[in-house]
Amino acid sequence: MKTEKIEIFDTTLRDGEQVPGCKLDKNQKLYIAQKLDELGVDVIEAGFPISSPGDFDAVQAISKIVKKAKVCALTRANTKDIDSAAQALQYAQKPRIHTGIGTSESHIKYKFNTSQEDILNRAAEAVHYAKKYVEDVEFYAEDAGRTDNAYLAKVCEAVIQAGATVINIPDTTGYCLPADYGAKIKYLKENVKDIDNVTLSCHCHNDLGMATANSIAGIINGARQIECTINGIGERAGNTALEEVVMILKQHEKLGFYTDINSVMLNEMSQLTSTTMGMLVQPNKAIVGSNAFAHSSGIHQDGVIKRRDTYEIIDPRDVGINESAIILTARSGRSALAYRFKNIGYDVTKKELDVLYDYFLKVADVKKEVTEKDLFAIMHTFSQNH
Ligand code: KIV
Ligand code: ZN
Repeated sequence: MKTEKIEIFDTTLRDGEQVPGCKLDKNQKLYIAQKLDELGVDVIEAGFPISSPGDFDAVQAISKIVKKAKVCALTRANTKDIDSAAQALQYAQKPRIHTGIGTSESHIKYKFNTSQEDILNRAAEAVHYAKKYVEDVEFYAEDAGRTDNAYLAKVCEAVIQAGATVINIPDTTGYCLPADYGAKIKYLKENVKDIDNVTLSCHCHNDLGMATANSIAGIINGARQIECTINGIGERAGNTALEEVVMILKQHEKLGFYTDINSVMLNEMSQLTSTTMGMLVQPNKAIVGSNAFAHSSGIHQDGVIKRRDTYEIIDPRDVGINESAIILTARSGRSALAYRFKNIGYDVTKKELDVLYDYFLKVADVKKEVTEKDLFAIMHTFSQNH
């Protein structure tokens, strides 16, 4: 089976941090960058240096401390932005400039009020200019998801000629269907001259809840880098969630891909990002939500207690969670109750369990969740009456 590496490009500190309310100070950014390096991401997009002196400082400081990952800075396709990014990255061991411009009809006509030809020239000039500073230049074709494939191919050819090492195909508005996004990557792989000299990158937004599916479709069709954020934070409905793509590639070995991410750190990274940015993780969020390994219905609990993989496709320890949770609610059954009693030191007989279960249901019917404290109280009442 072929096993090819997929590069993980983390943009938590750029696309993630630009979300209202998620702003971080320099020390917080430095700490997260260090942890991302430890996690094993290949690229850390540290910021957009021209956007503010604070962001410039943060990118510069991150460049100094990151040991393994490439450090990347975002620019628009102009010399001022690129000069600033190059300066901010000057201490990075592996610097990358990420420059680009909108290529869809909507961007060309309404944002830039210009022609396809002008955009193509600006794209190539920006890459050429960035190459004078760094070897590794990534180009993004903003709104590539809604860009005509034939024109997008021409832009890709122009930036490859200008020296791009990576080409990012963003679905900026989160509009694409997985089959269409995959077909776009396939089209570029088949129609762009010298495309194998560059890495194609997926950068998908989640406006229709398809960011992860689109990124995987991109990989299956020839892309080799995924741009993503911890917890999927990012503009509007967010970006592709790092933890999701990493675990999909890990659980579906048959696809033939791997990443260098140490998945055991995923839960810790999720909590760190959530608390530092003040951005709550929805409980039912895949992989890192508080309910992702929690079971509350009697049928599921019985199955999981007998054999974990009856209802779990991931071993929670693989993502840094010690064990699955058996939550007691009015929908729980006897086997869950016995299991939870055992966890607090009571090995009850079948006969005792029948009585305890009736006590339990009385409590469960008036509470959202029956806690350990409630279990002790139930046991206390039971032992006084029997
Ligand atoms: O979504 C997008 O198009 C972007 C680019 C700036 C890479 O974030
Ligand atoms: Zn984006």
